[in-house]
Amino acid sequence: MLNAFKRTLLVAYLWVESLFDYIFGQKYNPFYYLGALTWFFFWVVSVSGIYLFLGGFDTGVTEVYDSVQWLTHDNWYLGGIMRSLHRYGSDAMVLTTVAHLLREFCMDRYHGVRWFAWFTGVPLIWLLITSGITGYWLVWDELAQYLAIASFEWLDAIGIFSEPIANNFLRDGSLTDRFFTLLIFMHIFVPLFLLFTMWVHLMRMAHAETNPPRQVALGAFGFLIVLSLVFPAVSHGPADLGKVVMNVGLDWFYLAGYPIYDMWGGEVLWIVAVGTSFALAMVPFIVPKEKYIPAVVDLPNCNGCTRCFVDCPFGAVTMQPRTDGSRYEEEAIVKENFCTGCGICVGSCPASSPFRRSEDLVTGIDLPHLRLSDLRTRMTEEAGRLSGETKVLVFGCEHGVDLKALESPEVGTVTFTCIGQMPPSFIDYAVNRLDIDGIMLTGCRSGDCYHRLGVIWTEERLTGYRDPYLRPRIERDQMRVCWAASIENPRLSREIDAFKAELQGMKASGPAVDDETAVTGATGE
Ligand code: HEM
Repeated sequence: MLNAFKRTLLVAYLWVESLFDYIFGQKYNPFYYLGALTWFFFWVVSVSGIYLFLGGFDTGVTEVYDSVQWLTHDNWYLGGIMRSLHRYGSDAMVLTTVAHLLREFCMDRYHGVRWFAWFTGVPLIWLLITSGITGYWLVWDELAQYLAIASFEWLDAIGIFSEPIANNFLRDGSLTDRFFTLLIFMHIFVPLFLLFTMWVHLMRMAHAETNPPRQVALGAFGFLIVLSLVFPAVSHGPADLGKVVMNVGLDWFYLAGYPIYDMWGGEVLWIVAVGTSFALAMVPFIVPKEKYIPAVVDLPNCNGCTRCFVDCPFGAVTMQPRTDGSRYEEEAIVKENFCTGCGICVGSCPASSPFRRSEDLVTGIDLPHLRLSDLRTRMTEEAGRLSGETKVLVFGCEHGVDLKALESPEVGTVTFTCIGQMPPSFIDYAVNRLDIDGIMLTGCRSGDCYHRLGVIWTEERLTGYRDPYLRPRIERDQMRVCWAASIENPRLSREIDAFKAELQGMKASGPAVDDETAVTGATGE
């Protein structure tokens, strides 16, 4: 049942993302930056909030409503827009957080060391919702009145306060400036704690992306501005504790729990909220998954160069002083609990070269279940199997297109755990030693590597920005890149056919070098 839900959700995400890839290109598809976008919206909300606080908001309980009205209407071109940015930025945070949560879930990114990010994500939801609710109080309109009373009655339902807090809202005049200051303090303190927890959330991820690409950020900001101009955020009528609020328009992003409270009471809402959070927090521990097999360092082949340490997406590799008396100062060491067995460290190791003569190719750091020597053997066997005019080897990963389905007498395949496991020298070896005409590289969609950084590091290694890089003696038009998700077999097949046709044309007319498009030519943009 859960698996069926997960599968359906995954397919839905992949199709919608294909559409967005088509519109924005893989590099600027907002779906690949949902966590980073949430950070971005946090900054939008913070800056606009600071402006509102300093730019006219009055913290007195009797003055606050008018001050917000002034900001919204008289000062609409600045205060009003800032208020709307504050409101819609907060809504956008909820939207991207929920989309991010569902995405990490259906894409199976919560196991192993990722349990930590998942687990700390759950309090983020509470803090985010609390930040939003406390914000709604501050306007002190009818909605604020309803929310403040309902929220404190809900808290009172736990029964731990000697005096019901909701008593502060019993009648006109019972709400003091001091209590209102407490509400304001909560709206500042809770988001600060949210920020701290957002930082904790990323603690076990190396190179975590907290900034979306500039184009994505500008697009999102532009969207918020348009929304603010077309549908400016406004208040309800002023709060009046002498009246019972009957009808209010709810912001469903933040206030969806209130109808549950109204219909079934505080106890039921507690059960729903705590039960859902508990179930969510337990997901990494109850949804089964094969255990990751961690990478292993081979000390005699490790020269302590730190590349695996720098490239590991999960901080699973650390460096320590040499323990074997070698002339090198440091050695790599794998923290097994942090390792997801992605093999990106193998691709980064300078000893990972198929050109090395040893029969049993041993490298500085390797995956016990898919060793570099197995991959070289596989590549050699596939190359030996190929016949025909143009021989193409496809190097891909376990999470992108199923490569087996692409095999033919002219097309061989090698599947790495992650494309980042592939040392660039494999391309060199295939072309110069195994007489392969062209290499097609594939892996998860650009910006959406299952192991976070494999695609980025591979692109940087191929273009010479990152060690180990592809040697310049490789003709760049002997290589194509097509990052594609598991549902994109037809697209990758078409790219391979087009590549084969090009290689044939090149053979017929002699080599034609086009360095620029070779590496980025078919990335799906
Ligand atoms: C305020 C809300 C949140 C923010 C700002 C946020 C932000 C982020 C960011 C920036 C990343 C790193 C992306 C990367 O560089 O690969 C990330 C990863 C992650 N987040 Fe969140 N997140 C939030 C809420 C959540 C929630 C509610 C959950 C789930 C309960 C969650 C689960 C995860 C997981 C599992 C990862 C690890 C992904 C991976 O290892 O590939 N996050 N988050």
